[in-house]
Parts: sequence; C-alpha cells; structure tokens
Amino acid sequence: MTLIEVRSLSKRFGGLQALSEVSLSLAQGEILGLIGPNGAGKTTLFAAVTGFVRPDGGSVRLDGQEITGLPPHAICRRGLARTFQLVQPFPELSVVENVMVGAFNRTRSAAVARRRALEVLALTRLAPLAGRPAHALSIGLRKRLELARALATEPRVLLLDEVMSGLTPTEVDETVEVIRGIREAGVSIIVIEHVMAAVMGLSDRIAVLHHGELIAAATPAEIVQDRRVIDAYLGEPLAGKRE
Ligand SMILES: Nc1ncnc2c1ncn2[C@@H]1O[C@H](COP(=O)(O)OP(=O)(O)OP(=O)(O)O)[C@@H](O)[C@H]1O
Ligand SMILES: [Mg+2]
Repeated sequence: MTLIEVRSLSKRFGGLQALSEVSLSLAQGEILGLIGPNGAGKTTLFAAVTGFVRPDGGSVRLDGQEITGLPPHAICRRGLARTFQLVQPFPELSVVENVMVGAFNRTRSAAVARRRALEVLALTRLAPLAGRPAHALSIGLRKRLELARALATEPRVLLLDEVMSGLTPTEVDETVEVIRGIREAGVSIIVIEHVMAAVMGLSDRIAVLHHGELIAAATPAEIVQDRRVIDAYLGEPLAGKRE
C-alpha cells in the first residue's frame, strides 16, 4: 500500500529551481533512502512535504489524502514527522523532557507524555541518558535525541535528515539498528544520508536527486550500477563521500 505519494512537486527559490517536478512514493513499511549531491534539493523536498515550505506546484498525498499546503503542525498531526539537519534541542531541558515536547503533540497529560517519551527513549537506546541535560550530549547523541523527539509525535512516516553525519562508525551502526527497530514498530521511513554504506544497507529503495530532479529510484544494487548516478554523485569507486 502506498503511504506517501508525491506528484510533480516543484519549488523555486528566486532564480534557483530547487525541486523540479519530483514524483516519488513511499510504501507502507518501506525504508527509502534519499541521496544526491550537496544542494540537490533533498532537505527542500522534506520541507515541501511537511509544510515548512510551500511548493509552487505538484501535490503530496498521505494515505490517499491531499496534504499539500497544510501547515506543519497539521501535517505532523496526521502522522508525518521530520527531523532537522541542524539539530536544536532545548539545551537546559533533560533528554526525557525534550522528548516529552514531541509527545505533547498527541496529549495534554504530562504523565502520558512522560510514558510515551520513556518508550521512545528505549526504542532509540537513549534510556540511560534520560536525566541528562541535552547540552551535555555529544553531537551524535544529540542527533539521536532529535530522532527521538520526532518519533514521540507518533508518526506513521518519519523523515530523517542526515541523522548519521558526523557520527563515529560505532554510532552509525547503532543508529542503523535504531532505525530498523523503528520500522519494525510499524513506522515507514525516508532517510536523507551521505553515509553511503549505512544508507545502502538500510534502504529497500534509493531515490537520487540531482539539481532538483529525480534522476533514479531503484534498489541499492541497481543504484550503484546506474551510470547517471555514478556520474552525478557516487563517483568511482563508491567510497569516501563527503558530508
Ligand atoms: N529557504 C531558502 N531560500 C533560498 N534558497 C534555498 C532555501 N533553502 C534551500 N535553498 C537552496 O536550494 C538548493 C537546495 O538546497 P537543499 O538544502 O534542499 O539541498 P540538500 O540536497 O539538502 O543539500 P545538503 O546535502 O547540502 O544538505 C540549494 O541551492 C540551497 O542553497
Ligand atoms: Mg540537506
């Protein structure tokens, strides 16, 4: 079943065509990787899908319902959550309190929000840090916290924007496991990522943006063989992509 259907989505910033008639779908239970060079339009696609920027054309459907042009909080309510590339937790609040902020999207009860936050901390392997202030976390763990905050809104679809960049190899492996666990819990996921080994291993399918255009969408095995993708982004050999 198709959960998200993006059709001919376009966005222009002044003279720059950031998204050019991008069409893309996400199936229930799928992990879709979204890759492409710096400035390709990946974050803009997330922003246009989640209501943070208004597209100039095209449509976004969530579970068959048109959500194009709705404000971000309304889209979040419907079950579509995103993380931000630049993470900004509330630094003085504890880890669990930061996650409760997300949980308040669904409840007014602090007790319910705390319970939900603790579940999310377990799923994201942050439970041992629940009482720490957010500012005390490493950048890697702050990214994990950002993911946890988005998850606490109880999304059906989670959009992750470079949650693995700047992480140590051990932290990358752990985050890959966390994302798999989130999918097992029934959430469908799109991941923007420059860490190629991680995104190729994690994703069922990969979509590639280049200058705002979708140039390929296929399995990871097909993508690494795709001539346009190699020329535009992957290079040869497939290794050492910068962030
Ligand atoms: N609010 C904005 N106003 C003007 N230009 C913007 C805005 N947001 C993005 N852009 C431009 O749109 C293009 C696409 O940017 P976007 O952030 O979507 O790229 P990206 O694929 O996420 O890149 P990266 O991998 O570096 O994060 C870039 O040229 C960027 O400078
Ligand atoms: Mg980006």
